[in-house]
Amino acid sequence: MVKLAVIGTGRYGVNIIHAFKQLEYQNIAKLVSICDINQHTLENYCKKYSVKGYLDYREMLDKEDVDAVAVATPDHLHKQPCVYAANLGKHILVEKPMDITVEGCQEILEEAKKNKVLVQVDFHKRYDPYHQQLYRDIRSGKFGTIEYGYVHMEDRIEVPSKWFSTWAHNSSPIWFLGVHFIDLVRWCLGANGKVAYATGYKVKLKQLGIDTYDSISAKVIFENNASVTFDTCWILPENFEAVVNQSIRFIGTNGLIECDTQDRGTRACSNEKGMETYNVGFIFESADVCGNTVYKGYGIESINDFVYNVLHLKKGGDFETLKKNSIAAFGEDGLEVTKIAAAIHKSIETGNPTDIK
Ligand SMILES: NC(=O)c1ccc[n+]([C@@H]2O[C@H](COP(=O)([O-])OP(=O)(O)OC[C@H]3O[C@@H](n4cnc5c(N)ncnc54)[C@H](O)[C@@H]3O)[C@@H](O)[C@H]2O)c1
Repeated sequence: MVKLAVIGTGRYGVNIIHAFKQLEYQNIAKLVSICDINQHTLENYCKKYSVKGYLDYREMLDKEDVDAVAVATPDHLHKQPCVYAANLGKHILVEKPMDITVEGCQEILEEAKKNKVLVQVDFHKRYDPYHQQLYRDIRSGKFGTIEYGYVHMEDRIEVPSKWFSTWAHNSSPIWFLGVHFIDLVRWCLGANGKVAYATGYKVKLKQLGIDTYDSISAKVIFENNASVTFDTCWILPENFEAVVNQSIRFIGTNGLIECDTQDRGTRACSNEKGMETYNVGFIFESADVCGNTVYKGYGIESINDFVYNVLHLKKGGDFETLKKNSIAAFGEDGLEVTKIAAAIHKSIETGNPTDIK
């Protein structure tokens, strides 16, 4: 049984609560406590999920006997709770990005190493079965040497302007969206980033009083010389047919592979909602045999996988076996992704291609 806590119970943290709670129904885990600085949110979830609540993560981690903690605070507020938890020997699932600075990721990793703690980053695109096929095909050499690739990931404008307008200026389309695909591309290629060149626009959100990029277009050369373009934005019109728009493709010396992660084959149009496309493979609502509401999909699987990994360690399993066999993104992966995203930002600021280090 893995004893768990969650820090940050906002819009995404609740998915983690759901996943942990479901594992509790199966006697695999127990959600011991949750923490949020927003008293209203905290009280609401404590009541709904019959769990203890704290306004201060330090107090929670000092008092509660938990094996592991999930951190789902805003993008720029991951480091402190991660370092604090690692220092207390708690395994960590951190939402993406691991941290928005290379130094922050390194600090988390150092503390984790010292205390023999697992750090897993919630890059759930690795758990989408279509992406696993992409990974296997590319790694098998089926397409020969990958020469270039293309990714786009775009959100509707309500995401930065309404969902978290208070901290969107601390993030960007690359930190919030791009890192998902940067991780996926790096994983598929089995290569770290070498050089980044990027451009960015600050127009529309700035007019709304949010000082961050509307869009970022980046070209990243990886260490195997594959060149991949990442086009990201979070200013799609509110009446676009889904919250997100996305796809990925690679071209190699022996072929190509394209994964339309947007159009999974189901479209709808109603008077009430207009055009819609569904991404139910991500997270969808279901029920278990006892009638409990449960959620499934690759967004939940990546969280479950963390708990199974902690269980492996609790049963005496070693890190090396885990890291060799698991598809999870670990802290070292989170650091490499942050290096690429940080170089993309630096390139926009300087106007020059930037070494990734
Ligand atoms: N994996 C995904 O697909 C996915 C999707 C959305 C968001 N996220 C990530 O999840 C994280 C949270 O995003 P969100 O959309 O839930 O944001 P949110 O603003 O809805 O929630 C963040 C929560 O953290 C709380 N918080 C802030 N500082 C805290 C502290 N010191 N201690 C405890 N709680 C604190 C806030 O009160 C808020 O409730 C971000 O890093 C984001 O990038 C991941």
